[in-house]
Amino acid sequence: MKLTSKKALEILENTRKEVDNDHFINHSICVGNTASVIAKALNLDEDYAKTLGYIHDIGKKVKYNENEVFHHEVCGYNYIKSLGYDEEYAGICIKHSFLNNDVECTSKSRETIDKTSANYEFVKNYIKKEYTIYEKIINLCDLMCTDKVLTVDKRMIDLLLRHGVYDTTHYHIVETCKLKKYFDSLLDYNLYDLFPEIKDNL
Ligand SMILES: [Fe+2]
Repeated sequence: MKLTSKKALEILENTRKEVDNDHFINHSICVGNTASVIAKALNLDEDYAKTLGYIHDIGKKVKYNENEVFHHEVCGYNYIKSLGYDEEYAGICIKHSFLNNDVECTSKSRETIDKTSANYEFVKNYIKKEYTIYEKIINLCDLMCTDKVLTVDKRMIDLLLRHGVYDTTHYHIVETCKLKKYFDSLLDYNLYDLFPEIKDNL
């Protein structure tokens, strides 16, 4: 079943009353709206980009369980599948967390992760599939948005302050910068030109 941004927003907003902390909901709305601006500039499907942005973190509605590897990614994937939506909508819940098709390329520590778990193996293999341009847009927007749109530099400082610095941090920053440059080259101008409000958020 296909999903629209209207329905995705409804699913997202319905979780607001179920959770203690609704920051991820405001963040997801920012990611979806930011993604739609980039999609429009590239003559892509704005509503589809917005939809993926709205649901990418929906797994955070499930109470965190530190024993479950890649908790919000797998919970989001299973939740969207359980609602009957197509693989591409469930898939963004996993793919958004990883750059370069690499399970190691994230902003969080993977040092204590159970690499023998079924979730680890599933996610590691899942993200080897080619990312669509829309999935790459969500990757980038997740690295530009808190609940407002920021430069990737500022967002990465936010992530460093919250998550700390790990063996893979340098790798993740390098890949984030590459992704931003990739979109600059597709647009043939600086992507930040699409977001004049970024200056107010520095
Ligand atoms: Fe996110």
